[in-house]
Amino acid sequence: MNRAFFSVALLLLVLLPGAPAREDSPEYCVTPFSILVSNSVTNAPNKTYSTCVVYRGILLEGMRRLQKTNKGFRFTYTEDPTYGPYLQSVNGLKGNTKDRTYWELLVKQANETIRLNVGIGAFIPSENDQIILNFKEY
Ligand SMILES: *[C@@H]1O[C@H](CO)[C@@H](O)[C@H](O)[C@H]1NC(C)=O
Ligand SMILES: *[C@@H]1O[C@H](CO)[C@@H](O)[C@H](O)[C@H]1NC(C)=O
Repeated sequence: MNRAFFSVALLLLVLLPGAPAREDSPEYCVTPFSILVSNSVTNAPNKTYSTCVVYRGILLEGMRRLQKTNKGFRFTYTEDPTYGPYLQSVNGLKGNTKDRTYWELLVKQANETIRLNVGIGAFIPSENDQIILNFKEY
């Protein structure tokens, strides 16, 4: 099958409203990436998880999928009217203004680690990205 056709077919499947829960089917989860949870406040040991998204799926989708399949990963977010979903807590640890802590979002691609310039509701992971959720003080 022609690659362009395959991409278009996949895109249609992803965008088709009311299609059966295809995003839950593992065969559509085509972009694997990992999530590293770190804590630069307490230096608690890092944890790494593997997950994936459907074609052009957002980070939030990969995090939901991970939460569904791995009881060791939990997160909550708030809905910011301007910036969209905002990561609030990971594995029970919540950023708060009193302690001036938050969850920093980074991505390690090849040799480079950069800050995400969009939130979990907008970032589209690429294959083999390592997303770093880092608990941090500001
Ligand atoms: C956790 O991972 C981050 C990012 O790779 C690294 O900078 C940090 O040193 C690690 N922390 C621990 C405690 O291993
Ligand atoms: C990563 O670093 C290695 C060794 O320094 C270099 O050969 C390679 O080209 C770099 N890859 C990218 C994508 O920058």
